[in-house]
Amino acid sequence: PQTAIIVVAAGSGTRLGAGAPKAFVGIDAHSVLRHALDGVFAAAPAQVVVVARPGFEGDAETELREAAGDRRELGRVVTGGATRQQSVAAGLAALWGDVETVLVHDAARALTPPTQIDAVAAAVTPEVGVIPALPVVDTLKKVAEQTVVAAVDRSELAAAQTPQGFPRPLLEAAYAEALASGIEYTDDAALFAASGHPVRRIPGSERAFKITTPDDLERARHLLAPERP
Ligand code: CTP
Ligand code: MG
Repeated sequence: PQTAIIVVAAGSGTRLGAGAPKAFVGIDAHSVLRHALDGVFAAAPAQVVVVARPGFEGDAETELREAAGDRRELGRVVTGGATRQQSVAAGLAALWGDVETVLVHDAARALTPPTQIDAVAAAVTPEVGVIPALPVVDTLKKVAEQTVVAAVDRSELAAAQTPQGFPRPLLEAAYAEALASGIEYTDDAALFAASGHPVRRIPGSERAFKITTPDDLERARHLLAPERP
């Protein structure tokens, strides 16, 4: 395939506090990572690189095998790093073949609709990166200490999700620049934009929320629970 999806799953899940790395916490009978990979394999065929926490590569292999089914040859597992950015870099280094578009996806956004993955991939061009993002619903304030110092116009803001998609050569060059500068960016779009490239926004979806806290895990469980009359 000309598209690769790097699924970063090497975090510890400190804020979830579930006693296991977040990727292997069960939502229902299946883990966060398994749900994320089910979404990835339900999207258009792509090479899939799962970035796993050191020591959990075998567990990630198992989830990959089960999600991929007869497309197992499309996927591989690599070991992640201490930061998300390092984990993405490890995933980038593991791409093979003639991939032209790279999507970077958080395993923690386990219920992301496959249609969102396809929409991001379709919107990437050789020059332009793409992020899915939702409008901001809260009223936002800029604060310093405990004082409100400014109102923020939320119509100018959007909440970024994943997958974020990029043309491979520009993303690889941007990661090389980030490595050289030592700067840690908040997401791949920020890292890509820091190299001077444009990033386009497409609509995100409520189901692509990131499982971060125990409340988020409850929300995911609720969304997967069979409807009760
Ligand atoms: N991630 C990663 N490698 C890291 C840190 C994060 O691959 N060193 C991944 C996580 O596995 C997750 C995504 O990046 O899929 C988003 O990170 P986050 O939600 O912050 O997950 P954790 O870092 O695991 O959670 P926490 O910050 O609460 O510890
Ligand atoms: Mg984190």
